[in-house]
Amino acid sequence: MQPMSVLPGEAASSGALHLPTPFSIRSVESDNERTKTIALNASLNAMPGQFVMAWLPRFDEKPFSLVAADPVTLMVTAVGPFSNLLHRLQPGDMLWIRGPFGRAFRLPQPGLRAAFVGGGYGVAPLLWLARAWLPKLNALTVIIGARAAAELLYVDRFEALQKAQSENAASVDIITSTEDGSAGAAGLATDQLSARLSQGELDLICACGPHGMLAAIDSLGERHAIPRQLSWEAYMRCAVGICGSCELNGSVLCLDGPVLEHGSV
Ligand SMILES: Cc1cc2nc3c(=O)[nH]c(=O)nc-3n(C[C@H](O)[C@H](O)[C@H](O)COP(=O)(O)OP(=O)(O)OC[C@H]3O[C@@H](n4cnc5c(N)ncnc54)[C@H](O)[C@@H]3O)c2cc1C
Ligand code: FES
Repeated sequence: MQPMSVLPGEAASSGALHLPTPFSIRSVESDNERTKTIALNASLNAMPGQFVMAWLPRFDEKPFSLVAADPVTLMVTAVGPFSNLLHRLQPGDMLWIRGPFGRAFRLPQPGLRAAFVGGGYGVAPLLWLARAWLPKLNALTVIIGARAAAELLYVDRFEALQKAQSENAASVDIITSTEDGSAGAAGLATDQLSARLSQGELDLICACGPHGMLAAIDSLGERHAIPRQLSWEAYMRCAVGICGSCELNGSVLCLDGPVLEHGSV
């Protein structure tokens, strides 16, 4: 597909973008000191859990989970050169996108009691996933973890989703946890997950976050024989299975992941 030019203020819609395609930025919202949500004037045919490659010409290209596909929305936490440059973008500026790539979260069957666990910007794909799956779930427990209160992300957006649920819809339970105890339960998000697993309240775990958190969730799920779908990060370059930079334990994450299934329902 040829790159298409999109004028500021104009929305474009596409299936898959094989070449970096420029889109104008529709809005930039500050989520906390280090994190912004950036929406573009574009929509993609994508599923929750997939990612796109964001490119700034002559600088770098990096993967980002889709917060939403219509419009294309990214959550960016500033940790280094590329993410700090993304933070300087304003509405009307251009950002080049390839994608969507990778395997999304997959609902194995309706009627399940699911837990979504997000650590840091790992929360990014989970709000969209909740919106997509809630009509088919029996119950949803959302566990949002961070180091401190100021780093908790999207709690207000999940609360709005919870309030919008009708009486007959699946119940939504929101749990926050911080390592320093400044908000919610003190400790790790995995402590909260462990308690729910011990009470036999869950059939499926979906999670996105730092590697250590995902490894701990994998062990917990295995111990309780609960299937989990975990969105792993790796260094990505081509995003189409050619360069090999995203290999993790034998999986090519840009193709086989980022969401890998561990255990089955
Ligand atoms: C599938 C996938 C989805 C992703 N989704 C998102 C997303 O939704 N939002 C997002 O912000 N990023 C996401 N990332 C990470 C993102 O692609 C970049 O790695 C990140 O923006 C850092 O790039 P940088 O050039 O700014 O910093 P780098 O130069 O890559 O990193 C700067 C320094 O920060 C450290 N660092 C990197 N990441 C973190 C971190 N999370 N916390 C603390 N230190 C860190 C590095 O080790 C390095 O020392 C995703 C990555 C993958 C593979
Ligand atoms: S990023 Fe190149 S093979 Fe996955």
